[in-house]
Amino acid sequence: MNMLRSFKIGNVQIDPPIVLAPIAGFTDSPFRILVKNFTAGLVYTEMISSMGVFFKDAKTFELIKFKENEKPVSAQIFGNDPDKLAYAASYLEEKGFDIIDINMGCPANKIVSSGAGSALLKNPGLVKKIVQAVRTAVKIPLTVKLRKGFSSGENVLFELSHIIESEGADAIIIHGITVEDGFKKDKEDWESIRQVKETVSVPVIGNGGIIKETDVKNMFEITGVDGVMAGRACIGEPWFIKSAIQFIDTGIPLSLLLSEKLNIIVKLVEMEIDEKGEENAIKEMRKFIQSFTFGMRGVAALRDKVNKVGKKDELMGLLRAFFEVKEAAV
Ligand SMILES: Cc1cc2nc3c(=O)[nH]c(=O)nc-3n(C[C@H](O)[C@H](O)[C@H](O)COP(=O)(O)O)c2cc1C
Repeated sequence: MNMLRSFKIGNVQIDPPIVLAPIAGFTDSPFRILVKNFTAGLVYTEMISSMGVFFKDAKTFELIKFKENEKPVSAQIFGNDPDKLAYAASYLEEKGFDIIDINMGCPANKIVSSGAGSALLKNPGLVKKIVQAVRTAVKIPLTVKLRKGFSSGENVLFELSHIIESEGADAIIIHGITVEDGFKKDKEDWESIRQVKETVSVPVIGNGGIIKETDVKNMFEITGVDGVMAGRACIGEPWFIKSAIQFIDTGIPLSLLLSEKLNIIVKLVEMEIDEKGEENAIKEMRKFIQSFTFGMRGVAALRDKVNKVGKKDELMGLLRAFFEVKEAAV
């Protein structure tokens, strides 16, 4: 079985069939380029407010920026008003995005209380209207990313997948866990993903519980999905998708030297500065450095220092010192 077979979402080729998840606060344009350079088949913006697009909100417009070398790139929108979602989708199509994705999984209180994100899992009638409206508004491929259900034990995947497919979506992304079960690895229900894959004819991308390279292989084998979406694993290791591909091909994940990891962080710092200017980029880098160095000894002290610097040279100095000490200790 060739699990790394490319597939199409509408007319967009997804090759390789492993994609970067939308992650609010992380998957900005520089980070997407970084992960794309490690062979992601598709990258996603973080969720973009359809109301923000409609009312031309400046912060929302920051999230809309992308570069040609990210392509194919999918814009993920959220909201609960079919007309506003349709407007936002059409606007983003005009801006040059390759795919529109609708968020039906976000568990954040602010989003749920506005009737958007995972609140839609409770409202199949509105799901139908939303997919219908957005489908009518755009020609580019349309996908929906949804969770298994809202309450623990609930499974709305079959009902909603069929609505989404029959209203003309080109692929479905399934995070196989309910909102109440949050992110607990042992609650990830890959069997339900497999069953949906068997019953719909559009491509299915499986998501959730991808921690190690072996999880990607298992997801393909257990569920038979067309593609696998990885989120947090890429936040800690932007090279994760390349590593998973190597693991599937050879049984051995990628092993990077500390100096190579440092170079990857430096590259991201440079791209963030180009995109956002030095001051904002250095602030943005704090969370990335935290995730890249997660679990390493001495990281708390590094974090304290990183949180106090505002200049590129100071940040680079701290990172080089940290990684050189680590390399010397190996
Ligand atoms: C900090 C954070 C932010 C997220 N932001 C989004 C988002 O903007 N849109 C979305 O559909 N999912 C979002 N997710 C969910 C991820 O896309 C993904 O479904 C989830 O992390 C499970 O995949 P993983 O186990 O590979 O991380 C977010 C998750 C985290 C941890």
